[in-house]
This record gives sequence, C-alpha cells and structure tokens, in this order.
Amino acid sequence: MTDYQKVLDSIYEDVNKDKIRGDVANYIPALSKVSLEHFGMTLRTSDGKEYAVGESDQNFSIQSISKLFILTMVMMHTDSDRWDRVGREPSGNSFNSLVQLEQENGKPRNPFINAGAIVMTDYLHDFYKRPGESILEFVRKISQNNTIGVNRDVFESEKATGHRNYALGHFMKSYENINHDVIKVLETYFFHCSIEMSCDDLARSVDYLVHSGKNIIEKSKARRINALMLTCGPYDDAGEFAFRIGIPTKSGVGGGIVGVCPGEYSVAVWSPGLNKAGNSLLGTKALRMLTNRLDSSIF
Ligand code: DON
Repeated sequence: MTDYQKVLDSIYEDVNKDKIRGDVANYIPALSKVSLEHFGMTLRTSDGKEYAVGESDQNFSIQSISKLFILTMVMMHTDSDRWDRVGREPSGNSFNSLVQLEQENGKPRNPFINAGAIVMTDYLHDFYKRPGESILEFVRKISQNNTIGVNRDVFESEKATGHRNYALGHFMKSYENINHDVIKVLETYFFHCSIEMSCDDLARSVDYLVHSGKNIIEKSKARRINALMLTCGPYDDAGEFAFRIGIPTKSGVGGGIVGVCPGEYSVAVWSPGLNKAGNSLLGTKALRMLTNRLDSSIF
C-alpha cells in the first residue's frame, strides 16, 4: 500500500530547502502583502483518507481556482456543448491578455483565462438571482465546510484596481458576448476570486472530479472538466504541466493549485510565490515531486 504521508513528508522536506520561491501577485495590492514563506499541501484519496503537511488548514485567496467551480456551475445548467460563447482551446497567452480577444472577435479561448471566466460569470447571472451567494453555497457544499467566505480586503482591492478585467468585460460587451451589466458581472467575478479556502478544503472540494462527477454533475461533464483542466488549467504553462506533472490541475494567483487524478486522489498545494505564468512556483515543483514519487499520471 502507498504510504502517502511519507511521500508528502519527503516533498515538504525538499521544498523547505528551496530558496527560490517566486514572487507574490503584486498587481493585486491585497495579495502583495502575503509572505512567501507559506507552504501547505493536502492529498485526499478516492476513499476519503486525507494526508497533509505544512499549513494545510490555513486559508488563502483561491483566485482563479474559483473558475473551476464557476465552470462546473454553468455546466450543471447547460448541455456540455451549449456554452458556445467561450472556446475550449488552450490560449498560449497570459491569463489576462487582451490581444487574442480582439483577433478572435471577443470570444475567449477557454473558460479559465480571465475573459472566459468573465463570460462564465455572466452566464451565472442568467441562472441565479444572487450569483455570489449561490457560488458560496456551492463551494461550501462541495468542500463540506460552511465557514468558507470571501476576504473583503482582497475583494475591495480587486474591485478598485482590476482595470484590465474591466477592459476585458467592456471589450466583450462591445461584441455582445456579455449579456448583463458589465460592472455587476465583474463584481461577481471579483467576489468569487476573493473566496478563501485551505488546502484541506480544496482537496475535498474536487472529490466529484475524482469520482466521475459523483452526485454533483454527470460523468461526461466531469470528464470534460478534467480535460479542460489538463489543457487550459495552468494557462500558458499547460503543456509543461501535462508533460511534467501529468494530471489535470487548476491554479490561482493566490499561489494555490488543485489537481485531480481521476479514480485515485485529489491534491491541493499552496505557496504564494509565482512563476512567470502566474502559477505557484513551489506548488508546481511539489506536484512534480508528487506524481513522480507516486509514479502517477493519467497517461
Ligand atoms: O482577475 C485576476 O487577475 C485574478 N482575480 C485572478 C487571476 C488568477 O488567479 C490567474 N491565475 N493564475
């Protein structure tokens, strides 16, 4: 039997020796204050056993990991092929790029880049009267933690400084790819980016993707969400992640990454220092060590 705790302990020992920790996301003022020293990791097996190291129960800003939950919620309401205002291709560009969006007439490449997640958030305004509350309710349900909430500092910080996201929103509105009021949609977008969770919460929250959708979403949709995580989850690092890590993942500029090995385990890691693509530097290294040491990959 695999000794998961031993594998996590060995990773923890190795990352603690690492002096190169990347940079915090300083374009969001409230996130620029977070210390680079944090590290936590949780692995949850398909039969519900949890193994953890470091600050696995410490809350942090989930940022773009929320895009995974938004996508799931939209897919709960639509046929998997019916959300046609967003593509399903890796962007090969940074997560907040404007260039590609103009070339492609306001249709974002995928639901995980900012533009794509803003359109997905717009869809949620069709389905829910109070989308922010419905998102929180959903996240609390899947992570089995009713205390999950939003960090108000981060929320206000993004609302006050997220000019690039406002630009993306207005730009897409000019192509009629946003149906609701841009400012309201952006407010919901910043709200879900500002949700705080721990590695323990996150590992639990994606259990439905380990179990073919479980009682959350149909099997075919869960499969497609995993496919999108693999091809688009870590943005312009997606090829490198598939090559070196080999499981579907989704990252956020708060330094968190969740990963799913269907049928086997889910994993969440947190270290706030980022690489150039906006993915946690040590988190990425830790996931590489994990799948190598477990000899685990979807391939
Ligand atoms: O909108 C933003 O830029 C952030 N709230 C989220 C970006 C993000 O997490 C990208 N992930 N690596």
